[in-house]
Amino acid sequence: MRSAQVHDLADLNNIHHQLEELFHQHQVAVLKFDCAGAKTFLDSFEEGMSIHMKEENEILLPLYRERAVQIRGGDCAVFIGEHEKIVEWLGRLKLRLSRIPLTDPRPQDILALLDDEAHFKKFIEHHTLRENRILYPELERVVTPKEKAGLIRLLTFSLGDPDNPPSDI
Ligand SMILES: [Fe+2]
Ligand SMILES: [Fe+2]
Repeated sequence: MRSAQVHDLADLNNIHHQLEELFHQHQVAVLKFDCAGAKTFLDSFEEGMSIHMKEENEILLPLYRERAVQIRGGDCAVFIGEHEKIVEWLGRLKLRLSRIPLTDPRPQDILALLDDEAHFKKFIEHHTLRENRILYPELERVVTPKEKAGLIRLLTFSLGDPDNPPSDI
């Protein structure tokens, strides 16, 4: 995304839907015992999420810190802390996945990975909700129309088609 359909700053956060879809495809591959495919989708998810978080950390959150009113649960440090947690989670999930033998995955390893990922998905869900309810509406309130147009132009990150990730499977 990042084109004519971006009208509000909150639209920039719709990329979470595409990221969820990538993660879903990763989990479908896990269920099929397709470890190579699972790794490809997880890598694409990580790459997309990292770029998105970098934009939030470096462009949107400094502005938010400077201008937003303090809202309960909306401290800037909370968002940054959650981004750090997401990085940690992804490192752990990738490690767990890398330990599953590609040729002969054991069902118990697959189940353990999916259990862990269920917690990760809940965490991401809360993070997305917090951003959608607090960060983006508050940013929308504090920027001028000119700044808003500039931000939408500046934040040019887009995710490719989740059905066709860049890496080969
Ligand atoms: Fe976000
Ligand atoms: Fe975020």
